[in-house]
Amino acid sequence: MINALRKKKTVEIEDAAPPALRPEEAGKRWAIEARGIKKSFKAGHVMVDVLKGIDLLIEPGEIVLVMGPSGSGKSTLLAAVSGLMKPDAGSVVALDQSIWKMSRPKIDRFRLTNCGFIFQGFNLFPALTASQQVQVVLKFMKLSKKDRKNAAEGALKDVGLGHRLGNRPDRMSGGEKQRVAIARALAKKPKLIFADEPTSALDGENGNIVMTLLRKCAKEQGATVLCVTHDARLATFADRIITIEDGVITSTNADPAIFAHHH
Ligand SMILES: Nc1ncnc2c1ncn2[C@@H]1O[C@H](COP(=O)(O)OP(=O)(O)OP(=O)(O)O)[C@@H](O)[C@H]1O
Ligand SMILES: [Mg+2]
Repeated sequence: MINALRKKKTVEIEDAAPPALRPEEAGKRWAIEARGIKKSFKAGHVMVDVLKGIDLLIEPGEIVLVMGPSGSGKSTLLAAVSGLMKPDAGSVVALDQSIWKMSRPKIDRFRLTNCGFIFQGFNLFPALTASQQVQVVLKFMKLSKKDRKNAAEGALKDVGLGHRLGNRPDRMSGGEKQRVAIARALAKKPKLIFADEPTSALDGENGNIVMTLLRKCAKEQGATVLCVTHDARLATFADRIITIEDGVITSTNADPAIFAHHH
């Protein structure tokens, strides 16, 4: 009886306390600040935890590689950080905006304005010339026809394709196609560049060209570059290497020398 009258104790659900800052994090401004990112996928009848509470802090103008074995969660992490796929938990602040608190149209607008994406498969339109591939993106940004053409040709010249402006994808090598994809991502001078295995279809020489271009964007335009890869050859191009294994960050500043023997 007494028990029944006793007021039921309410369980307070508090927000998880923010993780303690390490000394080297204090007072820094971040281009990307992701905290506690979790993502699970259903595989048959079981849930598989692909990202298990990841923190990712990247400074403006930094070029950071996320390296790890196949299936470790690299692409999933990139998608969560870049506004492509909502994580199950955690927050992402990019350029001082809390991405997953925004509406879908706002996120899309943010990506269009601020982000350049480079993926493994090039994703070029078969029917368009190199110049048109780049112009398509600029059209969405409401540039005039003349400005689009000039910006597209400038970006293609920057990647060494000034002589391929009128070529369609079937008349370009793999390395050239990837450079078109890069020109397309860079033409709008994005503040954030997200690359997923940008060199995996390329030989060493073309891989170097691609990474040199990304470095140039970071160092000359102040772009922040987040590049996921398992290509050890890219280690030398990074300011910092973050390693991920089985959905957990295993180092936020790995020594490039450990990757050297994979060459
Ligand atoms: N949409 C999805 N549905 C179900 N499972 C998924 C989905 N996307 C990814 N996964 C699983 O999550 C795990 C991590 O995938 P992810 O693509 O992030 O790995 P990765 O590190 O990019 O690998 P790789 O180097 O091969 O590209 C894999 O086991 C994958 O099968
Ligand atoms: Mg991947």
